[in-house]
Amino acid sequence: MPLPPICTTFEPYFLLSDERLQDIVNHFRKEMEEGLEAYGKDVAMVPSYVTGVPDGSEEGTFLALDLGGTNLRVCEVRLFGQHKFELKQQKYKVSEELKEGEARVLFDYIADSVDAFLTEIGSDISSNEPMHLGFTFSFPVEQTAIDAGKLLTWTKGFNAKNAVGNDVVKLLQDAFDRKHIHVRCSAIVNDTVGTLLSRSYQSGPALIGAIFGTGTNGAYIDKTRTVKKLGEDKIKEAEAGGQHAGEFMVVNTEWGAFDNGRKCLPVSIFDNKLDRESINPRKQAFEKMVSGMYLGEITRNILLHLIDASVLFNGYSSKTINTHYGYDTAFVSAVEAAKSPEDVKKLIISQLGVDPKHISEGDPEIVQWACRMVSERACKLAAAIIVAVVQHTGNDKVPEGEEDKGVDVGIDGSVAEFLPRFAERVDETFKILLGEEGGKRVRTGLAKDGSGVGAALTALQAKKAMDRRTEKDSQFVPGKKGYNK
Ligand code: BGC
Repeated sequence: MPLPPICTTFEPYFLLSDERLQDIVNHFRKEMEEGLEAYGKDVAMVPSYVTGVPDGSEEGTFLALDLGGTNLRVCEVRLFGQHKFELKQQKYKVSEELKEGEARVLFDYIADSVDAFLTEIGSDISSNEPMHLGFTFSFPVEQTAIDAGKLLTWTKGFNAKNAVGNDVVKLLQDAFDRKHIHVRCSAIVNDTVGTLLSRSYQSGPALIGAIFGTGTNGAYIDKTRTVKKLGEDKIKEAEAGGQHAGEFMVVNTEWGAFDNGRKCLPVSIFDNKLDRESINPRKQAFEKMVSGMYLGEITRNILLHLIDASVLFNGYSSKTINTHYGYDTAFVSAVEAAKSPEDVKKLIISQLGVDPKHISEGDPEIVQWACRMVSERACKLAAAIIVAVVQHTGNDKVPEGEEDKGVDVGIDGSVAEFLPRFAERVDETFKILLGEEGGKRVRTGLAKDGSGVGAALTALQAKKAMDRRTEKDSQFVPGKKGYNK
């Protein structure tokens, strides 16, 4: 059945033209450069003080803590070398009260969860030394060292008071100390940095680690010298072999905040509504079009609009559709995976609670259309942002005289994992933006457990640096030759 004409008026905001995509790539490259030059920019381009990626030979047992996804996770990670690891983990729920209450209460809860994990699961780490813990804290943090950094802003529904502006490692360490828990937080790591490290540990050197989950973000390897805002002294110190010796540095882009100024992203009335009703209006503009926390909500806004225009469900809504965040991205994925309009109709009844008597013959197709629009745009934007990073580092071309090893991107997160055809759609867009051959050179692969393994690898790097401040033969190897020309 043909779609109601009102639908087609919204399509340009979702079915992005090749020119529009290219424009988005260019804008992001510009914002990356601004973030590397100065502090306080929308795209924060945070130096992580991680100076390379692992080669898979690293060994040791570490605790890892992961805050920023759906749950709080406490893990014990055993790195065996030879690209192998084992992970014991326990998940703990973070209630809405904790997310929006006092930071001290949230951090006490985190410390208690680590304590409970150590008691319940038992740990293989036996020593009188405090246990080293890598803290995957997946929010924008302006890092000043591998184990220090101030929270810039909360994202993804968190809004705990008295945390922004404070050192997150200190907030956690104080909570451990208050409770006499013998754990030392030796590294703070963003989940994207963890994903990059974990992908490299498991399957060889990667250039980018990206998360397309509840939120979205990416980290990549750059020349330390490119991070101009560090200042010439710090850069020289790093290059000459200072505390964080390294020609290369992993940079956490915080691309979720790309185009907060709304200069190039395709902002529809549905995006505006979502933003206005969010707890962080005018922030995380890119994230709000791409990540799992929001895709369901954008389609809900579209469906509501069509219901109010009386072209869907005979103008009748349901309690679920009327509820803010009434359903999540899993519904979008389910509709995208449905084989027939009959299957979509069943989902409309079971998951959206629409009364079957209000569902007309063409309605399932309209719902399918809305979910497809929102998913297509998310996948294209995801690909465009990756292409921008690849181009920024010069890896869109094969370095002269070198073998073409392609570019590897480790990806994690519920959208990447569960949204049907995510990888295919991303690959198609790579080809649009980089040409058939250029597009094929960029390979993405799921890097599961990045936040656990990556945190352990970062804690290892921090511990080594702590043990022998001047050690030169770190097991961490700098970014693959040719990544950073
Ligand atoms: C945060 C990032 C994080 C991403 C994915 C965003 O909301 O700002 O720090 O990496 O979500 O979890």
